[in-house]
Amino acid sequence: MTFYVTTPIYYANSRLHIGHCYSSLLADVAARYHRAKGEPVHFLTGIDEHGDKVARKARAEGRTPQEWVDELARAAREVSGALQISNDDFIRTTEERHVRPVQAIFARLFAQGDIYLDEYAGWYCAHDETFWPPSRLASTDAPPCPECGRPLEWTREASYKFRLSRYAAAVERQLLRPGFVVPASRQNEMLAFVRQGLEDIAVSRTSVDWGIPVPFDPAHTIYVWIDALSNYITALGYGSADDARFRTFWPAGLHVVGKDIARFHMIIWPALLLALDLPLPQQICGHGWLNIGGEKMSKSRGNAVDPLPLIAQYGVDAVRYYLLTALPFGLDGNYTEAALIRRINVDLANDLGNLLSRTTQLLVKFAGGTVPAPAATDGVLAAAAGEAVAALERRLDALQVADALAALWGLIGRANKYIEEQAPWVLARDPVQADRLTGVLYSLAEALRVTAVALTPFLVETPERIYDQLGLAPASVRSGPWTEATRWGRLAPGTPVRRGAALFPRLAVSAEKN
Ligand code: ME8
Ligand code: MG
Repeated sequence: MTFYVTTPIYYANSRLHIGHCYSSLLADVAARYHRAKGEPVHFLTGIDEHGDKVARKARAEGRTPQEWVDELARAAREVSGALQISNDDFIRTTEERHVRPVQAIFARLFAQGDIYLDEYAGWYCAHDETFWPPSRLASTDAPPCPECGRPLEWTREASYKFRLSRYAAAVERQLLRPGFVVPASRQNEMLAFVRQGLEDIAVSRTSVDWGIPVPFDPAHTIYVWIDALSNYITALGYGSADDARFRTFWPAGLHVVGKDIARFHMIIWPALLLALDLPLPQQICGHGWLNIGGEKMSKSRGNAVDPLPLIAQYGVDAVRYYLLTALPFGLDGNYTEAALIRRINVDLANDLGNLLSRTTQLLVKFAGGTVPAPAATDGVLAAAAGEAVAALERRLDALQVADALAALWGLIGRANKYIEEQAPWVLARDPVQADRLTGVLYSLAEALRVTAVALTPFLVETPERIYDQLGLAPASVRSGPWTEATRWGRLAPGTPVRRGAALFPRLAVSAEKN
């Protein structure tokens, strides 16, 4: 069993903000989790370099489109690197490996009658690169874009169309498959949309130069979706001589997208795949938006937050943890720097950081600085750890990352409370309690080890730092698949503890700005 996971390819018209980072992180967590379970994983991200919007932006910056997208590709890779996104590949839609198969796909769909030449006349949003059918517009007299509110442009031009209407019933059947679309609210939206009836969609333009030419009619440029969506298969080598990767990893296990492009992925993409006789992805997740001040974060609204200074200031794991907990499953979430600082102080410094620092301190004080061999344990933390890992797995399988982390924080909270309940400093005064004391200390150390392993899908530096203080060689902890590594009782007695710096130093509350 293999697992192929993708992010959207982000438009090369602006640098990535922390909203884009949310999608990449969600996909990264899925990739790391499946790798930890021992599955062969392929993780793709990249950028969408064609189209009017990109060409206009390049012109405005006084650059050629190619210079501009080269720079944006570098910038996108820099953000992925800083966030430690574990992608195996990065696709750019101007690459040869993408352009040629896209042309072949277009030609094939034309040859089999799924694409035909027609005329497009209607309202077009240059900003969103979206044609709006009259049925979706409130008025027909100079309507604003239903998506972004900008004035629409009236366009009339020859255009190839894809027979989306032909696939309405087949797509509806797919949408009904449990788990195909998550969350369920998105599935209902998509079903409602399909049941209104699907119109054929324009898939070429004659007025845009910066794009892939239609191979048999180069006056036309392939317009947006056949170009962009196909990246998920061209990156695997579909349509090229070397398609071993495609044969290994297709169909995708998971496409992660935001709700703004859910329709394209949950309706148009399945229709295109059906037309190409290819299997459909297992799952498509359409997550909510990261808002700021109640508005969607986006470059065009001028409210975009750059991830790089945040990572430099707070560290990669603090930013990852904050973003992964910022959106309730399926809903939008609101970004504030104050909330980020609160999560660092409460969840990371207080709950997790204190548990590590108190546990290592107790081990140094009462067990000579090594993990003791427990004569017996009371099973309290073993049970809590088992439940937390099971809940985390259930929730991660459903991509509920914030809830998965909450399950783990349940264990951390339980362990902190356990220290108070057991009061090892009192047990240490009574030689009769010696066995109970070693049991308590072992349980705390083992709860931390399990926590560190369970954090590996989410955080990139913290698990290592916990292993290090527990005196565990990272490799020995990682060896063996997830189910082995998360099992209670794997911590070997005699491991020498190394107290280290606080995992997450508390930030001054005065820093809790908006
Ligand atoms: O749509 N909150 O690219 P794009 C959460 N090129 N996620 C957000 C977000 C926010 N505020 N802002 C952006 C495109 N995203 C096309 C995609 S795919 C074949 C082609 C994320 O740069 C979210 O995943 O506009 C959204 O769907 C995506 O970035 C849009 O990125
Ligand atoms: Mg967009």
